[in-house]
Amino acid sequence: MFVIKNEPFLETEADALLIGLFDKPLKFEEVLEPLDQAFSGQLTELVKNGDLSAKEEHTSVIPALGHIPAKRMVTVGLGKEKEADFHAIHRSVQKAAKQSKPYGLESIAIVLDSFITENVTAVEAAEAVTEALFLARFEYTGYRTPGNEPEKQLTTVVVYTEADSDEIQAACKVGKTMAEGTNTAIRLTATPPNMMTASDLALHAEKLAEQYGFELEVLEREDMEKIGMGAFLAVAQGSAEPPKMITLKHNPTDVWEDVLTFVGKGVTFDTGGYSIKPKDGIVGMKTDMGGAAAVLGAMEIIGELQPDQPVMAVIPATDNVISANAFKPDDVITSLSGKTIEVKNTDAEGRLVLADAITYAKQQRAGKIVDVATLTGGVIIALGKDKTGAITNNEPFFEQVLEASHEAGEMIWQLPLTEYDKKRIRTSDVADLNNSPGREGHAIMGGGFIGEFAESTPWVHLDIAGSAELTPGVMTRTLAILALSDQSE
Ligand code: BES
Ligand code: ZN
Ligand code: ZN
Repeated sequence: MFVIKNEPFLETEADALLIGLFDKPLKFEEVLEPLDQAFSGQLTELVKNGDLSAKEEHTSVIPALGHIPAKRMVTVGLGKEKEADFHAIHRSVQKAAKQSKPYGLESIAIVLDSFITENVTAVEAAEAVTEALFLARFEYTGYRTPGNEPEKQLTTVVVYTEADSDEIQAACKVGKTMAEGTNTAIRLTATPPNMMTASDLALHAEKLAEQYGFELEVLEREDMEKIGMGAFLAVAQGSAEPPKMITLKHNPTDVWEDVLTFVGKGVTFDTGGYSIKPKDGIVGMKTDMGGAAAVLGAMEIIGELQPDQPVMAVIPATDNVISANAFKPDDVITSLSGKTIEVKNTDAEGRLVLADAITYAKQQRAGKIVDVATLTGGVIIALGKDKTGAITNNEPFFEQVLEASHEAGEMIWQLPLTEYDKKRIRTSDVADLNNSPGREGHAIMGGGFIGEFAESTPWVHLDIAGSAELTPGVMTRTLAILALSDQSE
């Protein structure tokens, strides 16, 4: 799959030779000079004419025409060398890979040296380039009847470098694994809801457990009735689909205490229930399990890369539909924690399923909890779609999550949760809490409600309602990086 070579790249026979160009005259010449000679000086002309450029994200596909054994060369502009970092390389290579997709490249040779700067090591560059390649090449084709031409996959990556080949090999594996976990999340989210039910999510978790040796537990409706998961079951009450509370445990040590835990909203379709969504608002609600998808994608990465610390995933999976049995506005339900909830809006179902999932996670010895959820339309109004909204009860833990998000290149923005906000969530004539205190501070009400169940356990809530629409698979890498990072402080 990955072949690391310490020899001249000009000899490669790959479908494409991938070259990064920094906007710095010296580096530009260094990389292009041997190629220019092979092309009998014609590359200099291309530079003059602007066909070849180091401007960020400028991609050129140049047929080799027999000048070099590779079929073509793909150059990608990386911008100013001083300003370039991991993310700039990632962005530019993704663009280049997308643009060269029609060529169906099966083998790519990377001239790694051309991606290295004072700020980006060979290892980082190898990870950035491979991650970007495998992210960009993925496409969810769903259930379209296939044409005659099968889609060509990228199967061979040859890396030309003078750096340590084991280190580069490992970095390539990390890059590819990060991309594939994200692609899994994208695929799960894009799958139509009749083919991605709670049972299908459980089946996916089962496959992960088999492949990576995770411990798997799936609670069925009867199990949940026995322990009193009244909030989750209220949402699932109207559904003919069996609901599932899915738990995966990665346990590399003998100690199962204070476990880092990811909780993902797994609403496989959200009609809104009796507080039904307008017809245009229902379309697309198959993505309401995007949080679960990010968590499962992260668990795939964790399975591949085997972090030292224990990690747990908890996914409440059900759809939110209407039937004679469905729960109604004005119902009062009792959550697993014992707290009672007045249902004011059956479309505010995410916080209900997450409430019980979080209480359950704590019973299973969660020590730090990140919940990921397509929770509110309000977060889109507040922050737009390029940011994931966050709420926390613990600043040091939030800082760790934030750092992981920086590394992943995924933007998180914290929203405040005040005592005034909490009071609104705790206002009901008939119960301890209400699930919909009104439009003001919408996204905060949703997150704050979940926080009532996290209580004093360090917790970060990530609302991806907007960000998962703009960037499907979002937060998969942030979670994985968090699990791979040192949690000791
Ligand atoms: N699944 C939705 C949130 C959502 C909206 C996700 C748009 C993706 C795109 C959630 O369950 C919901 O309906 N939230 C309501 C809450 C309200 C009724 C308190 C909302 O945001 O309008
Ligand atoms: Zn809803
Ligand atoms: Zn929802």
